Amino acid sequence: MSLSTDFSGLRERVEHFDPERPLESSETPPSEWYTDTRLYELERESVFGRSWQYVGLTEWIAEVGEYFATDLGQDPILVVRAADEIVALSNVCRHRGGPLVRSGRGKVSSFSCLYHGWNYALDGKLRKAPEFEGVCDFDAKRVHLPRMRVASLGPFLFVCWSDETPDLEESLPGLAEHIGGLRLDHLVHSERRVYAVDCNWKVFVDNYLDGGYHVPVMHPDLSRSIDYAGYHCSLRDGWNLQLSPLRAAQADGAADSADVRHGEAAHYIWAWPNWMFNAYEDVLDINWVRPLGVDRCEIVFDYFFAADAKKSFIEESLRVAEQVQEEDREISEAVQRGLVSSRYDVGRYSVRRENGDHQFHQLLARALRAGIVRREGGTS
Ligand code: FES
Ligand SMILES: [Fe+2]
Repeated sequence: MSLSTDFSGLRERVEHFDPERPLESSETPPSEWYTDTRLYELERESVFGRSWQYVGLTEWIAEVGEYFATDLGQDPILVVRAADEIVALSNVCRHRGGPLVRSGRGKVSSFSCLYHGWNYALDGKLRKAPEFEGVCDFDAKRVHLPRMRVASLGPFLFVCWSDETPDLEESLPGLAEHIGGLRLDHLVHSERRVYAVDCNWKVFVDNYLDGGYHVPVMHPDLSRSIDYAGYHCSLRDGWNLQLSPLRAAQADGAADSADVRHGEAAHYIWAWPNWMFNAYEDVLDINWVRPLGVDRCEIVFDYFFAADAKKSFIEESLRVAEQVQEEDREISEAVQRGLVSSRYDVGRYSVRRENGDHQFHQLLARALRAGIVRREGGTS
């Protein structure tokens, strides 16, 4: 099969979902969106290469030379505080692809490649390439680690590969104000945990954005602490907010998720394409859905609690979060198997519950269509 034949089939499957069709009459995207490696490759460029990606917290790099390293899909990157700016760089040496730093956090005055010792300044410029005299057409002064744009949203750091993507505030208008209004400044980062899930990254996002539809069925314990009838999702430009009124803990004294999920309402925020923000009173977790392949992803959780939270409260809260995560992992992996089945292709949306999923799929469809047009060299 020639590449172009291969590619035209993909275009047809991308266009099968019409983002202009209203929720009530729309079908969901076809299952190949979740199982086809060519579509996954298209997403790497048109979704993850062109959106703002959460990576961590500004406080991790408070001093000059402090850095943290992480992976954006299959791109190892590092984020460092240089003299007067935060810089995000590819953590892949220009010589032979070695790493500048191992994963995790640290502090350096410059980066020395762990393979043959090329040395880079904090802003990514090559300073020294040992034993490289006599190499033709090689100007060390022109060698630079690929650099990403960096922006912050409150304490959260985001990066973006593309220069064409609008600024973070323009991409997600009103999100910073909304989060600022939640008054969560008293919360401190407690820890990061990473959960592997054998499903396409979108299965996990879909599960998150179903407006609570799966909660009574999949999360019986969590379900007792939220008021399902009042749970609703409001759409914004590039993000959405699922608001769920909370119930008080049961008076019978039995352990209950409501013991660690206080406040008037849970605020579940999703921002295009793969960032989630879950806030209760005195509890916050950030979820970053990282694709690792067409049928594998990992969910990075950053947990935050009040500075004076009791150890027992934190432990119980983490237990509840992990129970919910385990329930979501199990159903997401089962859904991935369902999507591979030859007996399933497209579904429908609940108008009452699944407007958030529909918004996600509309944004996705537009990004994929634009990616196809770019691949075809500007023709539509
Ligand atoms: S790969 Fe970095 S110095 Fe060789
Ligand atoms: Fe869930």
